Amino acid sequence: MDGGSPEKHAHTVLEDLALRVGPEAQSRLASAFLAIVGRVHDLVADLQPSTDELKVVIDFLTEVGHTADARRQEWVLLADVIGVSTRVEDINCPRPEGATPNTLPGPFYRMDVPDLPLGANLSRDGIGEPLHVRLRLTGLDGHPLPQAQVEVWHANAFGRYENQDPDLQPEFNLRGRLAADEAGQVTFETVKPRGYALPEDGPVGRLLMALGLRLERPAHLHFRVTAPGFQTLTTHIFDRHDPAIDRDALFGVRPELLADFRARPTEAGGASHELDLCFVLVPAGADDAASLEHTRLSRKEH
Ligand SMILES: [Fe+2]
Repeated sequence: MDGGSPEKHAHTVLEDLALRVGPEAQSRLASAFLAIVGRVHDLVADLQPSTDELKVVIDFLTEVGHTADARRQEWVLLADVIGVSTRVEDINCPRPEGATPNTLPGPFYRMDVPDLPLGANLSRDGIGEPLHVRLRLTGLDGHPLPQAQVEVWHANAFGRYENQDPDLQPEFNLRGRLAADEAGQVTFETVKPRGYALPEDGPVGRLLMALGLRLERPAHLHFRVTAPGFQTLTTHIFDRHDPAIDRDALFGVRPELLADFRARPTEAGGASHELDLCFVLVPAGADDAASLEHTRLSRKEH
C-alpha cells in the first residue's frame, strides 16, 4: 500500500520534484534548481546513458572538484572552456555600439599591484622584445578621460605570468597601475607577450584533448580601466597575427580587440614593437536604451 492518489502517479519525476520543493525555498533558487534539473532530465532522455556512462560523468566531476584548490580553480576553467563564463559576462556587462567590449579578467589578475608613473617599464627582468604602448581613453561621446586609472597585466615572452613563476620572475613583473594624463592618455614600456596554453594536466584539459579541442590562448595583454562616472572596463588586446587568433580557448577574441604590434626601429637593431590603442568607456547608469541613444547623439554632434 503506497496510499498515493492515482493523479500523483501521472506525474513525471520532475513534476514530483517541483511539487516537493518547499514554499520556504527562495524563488530564484527554486526556479534555477528546477530549470537545471529539467535540462538534465531532457539530456538523459536524449542521450539514454548507460549506468557506466553516468559513473564516468560523476567520476569526471569528482576529479574536477579534487583538482580545484586555492592556487588552481578547475571549476572556473571548466566554465571558461565551455564558454559559459563569457556568456554570463556578456549578459552582465553589455556594451553598446562604439564601446570597447568587456571580457573576462582571467585567473592571473592581482589587485595589489604597484602604482607606476607614466612611461614606466613594466618589465622588471628586461627579458623579451621591447613593446611601447600608447593608450587613449575616452567616453562614448569621444571626450578624453583624464581621471582614468589603468591596470595592466600580461604574460612574458614565454607565455608565463609572474604569479605562475614565483621563482623565475620578479614579483609584479609585467604588472602595474598607471594614471592617465590630462589628455586621457597612458603610455608605458613593457615586452611583447607570447600566447600560452591552458593547463592540460587536469580533468578539464584531458577532456578537451580527448575531444580534439585546442587549449591555446593567442598572445594578449589584459587591462582594467576605472574612471569616475564610468562603468569599469575589463578587457584584452590580442595580437591580430598570432597563429591561434581564431581558436582562443576562452572565447575572448572580438574584432574590436585585435591590434597590430607594429615593428619599431631601434638604434641597436633588435626587434622592438609598438601598440596604439583606444578604449571607449560607457557612462555609469547608461544601461537603458534612452540614455545610450542620447550619448550616441551627442557623440555625433562632436
Ligand atoms: Fe591572459
